[in-house]
Amino acid sequence: MKKILIGLCALGIAGYNVSATAGNGKMHKHQKHLNRTLRPIIRQLGLTGDPLIGRDVPDINSPEAQLGMELFFSKSLGGDRDSACVTCHHPLLGGGDRLALPIGTESEDPDLLGPGRENDEGVDGATLPPVPRNAPTTFNVVAWDTFQFHDGRVQSLNSVPGANGSAGGIRTPNSEFGVADPLAGGNLVQAQARFPVTSREEMKGFNHNPYSDQDIREFLAARLGGYDGPEVLGDNGEALADEDPLNDSGYWLAKFEDIFGGDVNQPETMITEQRVSMLIGEYERSQAFANTPWKSYVEGNNWAISANAKRGAILFFTSSEQGGANCSSCHSGDFFTDESFHNLAMPQVGSGKGNGADGSKDFGRARETGLQDEATDKFAFRTPSLINVEVTGPWSHAGAYATLGAVIKHHSNAANAIENFDDTQLAAEGVSNLDKMQENTLEALNFSSFELETLNLSDMQVGFLVEFLKTLTDPCVTDNTCLAQWIPVAGEGDTNGDQLDAVIIDSSFPQ
Ligand code: HEC
Ligand code: HEC
Repeated sequence: MKKILIGLCALGIAGYNVSATAGNGKMHKHQKHLNRTLRPIIRQLGLTGDPLIGRDVPDINSPEAQLGMELFFSKSLGGDRDSACVTCHHPLLGGGDRLALPIGTESEDPDLLGPGRENDEGVDGATLPPVPRNAPTTFNVVAWDTFQFHDGRVQSLNSVPGANGSAGGIRTPNSEFGVADPLAGGNLVQAQARFPVTSREEMKGFNHNPYSDQDIREFLAARLGGYDGPEVLGDNGEALADEDPLNDSGYWLAKFEDIFGGDVNQPETMITEQRVSMLIGEYERSQAFANTPWKSYVEGNNWAISANAKRGAILFFTSSEQGGANCSSCHSGDFFTDESFHNLAMPQVGSGKGNGADGSKDFGRARETGLQDEATDKFAFRTPSLINVEVTGPWSHAGAYATLGAVIKHHSNAANAIENFDDTQLAAEGVSNLDKMQENTLEALNFSSFELETLNLSDMQVGFLVEFLKTLTDPCVTDNTCLAQWIPVAGEGDTNGDQLDAVIIDSSFPQ
């Protein structure tokens, strides 16, 4: 035991020259000093280290989460059967896709996920990837109480801490701003899960254009159940049918019957879009990974994190007036987010969300609130949680940064970071559009909503902050054996052949 402690201690001090040759006694003294600074900060902020306390987290082995997992991995929910939820949210890829900008439908190889995935046109194709924002992780979506999406377009109208949006109405893109969508479902995660299937670029594909949002959801439920979906007329005025129906709807009907009971001979009441989204949501909500070294430290284990991580934590939680980096003013609480929106002028790479004269901009939160001239909303995006942030890169709303150090340097001096932006990773993905990026990002930087102070952190301080962020990683998310519970066994299950058994050629984590 003693040996391990000394090992940890030495690791912690690595890179901190003063102590590199000091004796163990001195190192311990150092740690004590850091603990004496950090513990009162933790007490004062009322942190527990655990963003999941008191939450209703479904067990991955529950029947709902199990069937939800199959649906999450099923290309049957892609209009053209070439994209599934997991296409952009794979557990082995940090609950995202490890790409700056995702590729959903019309990929070269639908089952190849992560780096190497290409649009049909290929990397050299002239077009930018059609999905304009980075895919956030599905890990710990059970811990959000107010917003889903970078711009919060799914919103709990009665946000209650710990309730995951289950305590009242939920606004979605299918209802007016501030008005509850009657079909949103029981919590924020179910409400969100009803939207990817409506996006041509993500899942709907381009052969189902005439389908409205609700029609495509009902069409897909009907496909699973093998019954007639909503009547939708094509360009020639004739009703559209599923050109690619499943061979074996009985597979899904039996699974739904196991959970909901009822009569498989009435498939239209057995498999409904509401049940599909609820089940997918339960699977996602079971992805609760927050058993971190940081939690262990907050709970009292002084040896759970390194000395440099403690230095990073002190910077993180201390205001700039007191010499800190002020990170927790936005990344607050145990989930490390204020669930609010801020303009950080993160590089606007990719095709944009159709805003501005040429459509290449993304106005962020202002797209929802309509308050485009107000200082608070334009170019503002939701503060991400930092739990497991080590494995959820590339980072920021358009995936512009390939290392944690680079994201932190942006926070430290945004103008500098934009000017010296390194597009190597983006060029490799075929996403680089440097000129437009500079133009659009500088507009955000110079807009009144821009919120960052210039900290000019030293490289050493950035290093400490990175060390701290790495203590927010639950060991399960870097352990394939642990994650296996959240991945269906390849080649088993769905008799329709639509289970997406991912081919991942590069699962290394950028640092
Ligand atoms: C082509 C890639 C792609 C596919 C397929 C896809 N997503 Fe996403 N997902 C994204 C992107 C991009 C965003 C962020 C969009 C935004 O904020 O505007 C997102 C956002 C989310 C979020 C919000 C997380 C948060 O922190 O707010 C959840 C949850 C989610 N997706 C779940 C799903 C589910 C469930 C499915 C299947 C029904 C799915 N996704 C299919 C790319 C994808
Ligand atoms: C003014 C509020 C604010 C402050 C202060 C702040 N952040 Fe952020 N942070 C955000 C927002 C908002 C984003 C997402 C912005 C975007 O993508 O456009 C973000 C993004 C990040 C990301 C990328 C996460 C991801 O999933 O893409 C990291 C890492 C991060 N911040 C760490 C820090 C650190 C470390 C500090 C202190 C040096 C800090 N932040 C200070 C609001 C803030």
